[in-house]
Amino acid sequence: MIAGATGAGKSELLLSFLMSLAIKHHPDRLNFLLIDFKGGATFRDINQLPHTAGMVTDLSGFLAERALIAMNSELDRRKRLLAKEHVPNIKSYRKVSLARGPLPPLPNLFIAIDEFDEMIRDYPQFQDELIRVGKQGRSLGVHLLFATQQPSLIKEGLLNNLSYWMSLRVNSHEDSKAMVGIPDAAMLGTDTPGRGFFRDKNSRSVEQTIAVFDRVVRRIEAKDFAIAERPAKACSTLRPTLLL
Ligand SMILES: Nc1ncnc2c1ncn2[C@@H]1O[C@H](COP(=O)(O)OP(=O)(O)OP(=O)(O)O)[C@@H](O)[C@H]1O
Ligand SMILES: [Mg+2]
Repeated sequence: MIAGATGAGKSELLLSFLMSLAIKHHPDRLNFLLIDFKGGATFRDINQLPHTAGMVTDLSGFLAERALIAMNSELDRRKRLLAKEHVPNIKSYRKVSLARGPLPPLPNLFIAIDEFDEMIRDYPQFQDELIRVGKQGRSLGVHLLFATQQPSLIKEGLLNNLSYWMSLRVNSHEDSKAMVGIPDAAMLGTDTPGRGFFRDKNSRSVEQTIAVFDRVVRRIEAKDFAIAERPAKACSTLRPTLLL
């Protein structure tokens, strides 16, 4: 989870993080579901990557319900795949796939949400669904990554099920403490976007994140990736559900 006041560098960090994963991992191993409540500007450039299984930019009306259904059915689909092979988690699934011949690809799925606080303000039911994802997701290979301006809006059930917390510049000591246990992120300057404090379950550190540029996205698109040989089959797992 990433917290930060406006202009602190949340969107840029989400983008850099996803891009760095996309460079490293084939779409058979890694898919993205992108949710951006503010019209989709954040993820516009990575929507075209073959890793992107779906992008939700507008949650009005039935779309919110549909996105929830899509997430649910993706969890269920993954459970069924694991149950069929009698394995408890995605790691064992891959081992079986290696040992006994290839099983259908089961990519890790990153659900990335920008403007999380705006989303749960309008659609509080999303938060409960994400708590479920947070609890069950790890063994199923589903991970949550979200950015918010107001960490105080996040329910404990969700907050406590996360593995990493990052605070860029925030407006109050309380927000900083809620994220990283110390007030220091409230004292970061506006002239260093992307600077923040990172915490996992055992440690804490200060980080300066990097920003990616348009040019990098274009280079990745052009790069082979072996995508030509293996078209977007593995990437289509969520797309039909979301667009139906
Ligand atoms: N790591 C970084 N290095 C250099 N510049 C950065 C970095 N991160 C962000 N910036 C710059 O800071 C500005 C604000 O970044 P960004 O849009 O990511 O902020 P934000 O937290 O998402 O703000 P908002 O809440 O308004 O959406 C942008 O112009 C961006 O290019
Ligand atoms: Mg932003």
